[in-house]
Amino acid sequence: PHLSSIINADDFEKVAQKYLSPEGWAYYSSAAEDETSVQDNSRLYRLLKLRPRVLRDVTTVNTATSILGIPSTVPFFICPTGFAKYAHKDAELNLARAAGLEGVHQIIPTSPSMSLEQITGARSNPDQTQYLQVYVNKDRQKCLALIRRAEACGIKALFITVDSPVLGKRERDDRLKAASLGSEAPNTGIAKIGSSTLLNPGLAWSDLAWLRSVTQLPLVLKGVQTVEDAIMAYEHGINGILLSNHGGRSQDTAQAPILALLEIRKYAPQLINNPKLQIFVDGGIRRGTDIIKCLALGANAVGIGRPWLYSMSGGYGAEGVRHLIHILKGEVAGNMALLGATKIEEIVPQMVNSMRAEME
Ligand code: FNR
Repeated sequence: PHLSSIINADDFEKVAQKYLSPEGWAYYSSAAEDETSVQDNSRLYRLLKLRPRVLRDVTTVNTATSILGIPSTVPFFICPTGFAKYAHKDAELNLARAAGLEGVHQIIPTSPSMSLEQITGARSNPDQTQYLQVYVNKDRQKCLALIRRAEACGIKALFITVDSPVLGKRERDDRLKAASLGSEAPNTGIAKIGSSTLLNPGLAWSDLAWLRSVTQLPLVLKGVQTVEDAIMAYEHGINGILLSNHGGRSQDTAQAPILALLEIRKYAPQLINNPKLQIFVDGGIRRGTDIIKCLALGANAVGIGRPWLYSMSGGYGAEGVRHLIHILKGEVAGNMALLGATKIEEIVPQMVNSMRAEME
């Protein structure tokens, strides 16, 4: 279909399901075990109700904000997802190009389809903000080499993934043989092949001091899921936390990240709007209203994963990614106007009724 007929994020998913190979679709869309968390991630946004304020002049609405102190045209960013090549031959280059043209921040994964140098080399704008997601390698020398490469490539922060000491049990992925990756790995999904050397079950809080000592880059923990760990991250001098259950791909029945944000509001309100700690949320965010609810409850920005992969499939490439950015930005702006907020700072907690979500 022509891009103009795609009017929301879910439309892209339907196209992708038709277009992707069975292996690619299983790798992108699957989640752990009964896939409860991935469904919950989206469902919780439906339980949060907006409380629009009226009679506020909303002629001009501005979606711009800053993330880790760097300007962004929108309060959302591109989350790291491995192996974009199943969606489009230009893979991560599409994300880099589109993000640069639109002023959107992008997190590059540890395991992309091409090198970090190629992806950072595809910046369409010299000031473009790219971050690197890091699976901290067991071998510190290897980890250090990756960090030095990131610094040389102009990466602006490191997102340390902490929700996957081991790989989640992805059953849909497991059921498909990764035929395209060679016959030496029968019954082994793409995720397993990609992660076998990356994940580090030994990673612990004590490793953060080492990370902090080897780089000046801001450190964000990706995959914090409770108020307890949010407090620990703050106490360890971490610059940000991304509340995430890895898009439901790690531990099934792990609570939706928006519930972790509600916990922080309730039990550690000092962490909200704290200049020393930025808070981000990802998982199941598909609508402008989902984004606005996170911001209202105290997030600085949100991450989005699968929809970018879907937006470049179907042959759309970077234009598909740009189209999705326009869709989401338009939904954020339109819903801010309906809510009575003309800038991001005007989106306040009173604009969300979280009673039903809190009963979860
Ligand atoms: C991911 N995610 C992920 N996270 C990470 O830290 N390192 C990685 O390599 C990957 N790889 C990856 C591959 C695929 C195909 C998906 C779908 C996800 C998790 C990702 O960064 C993010 O947390 C979730 O995707 C957010 O949920 P939604 O927006 O996809 O629902």
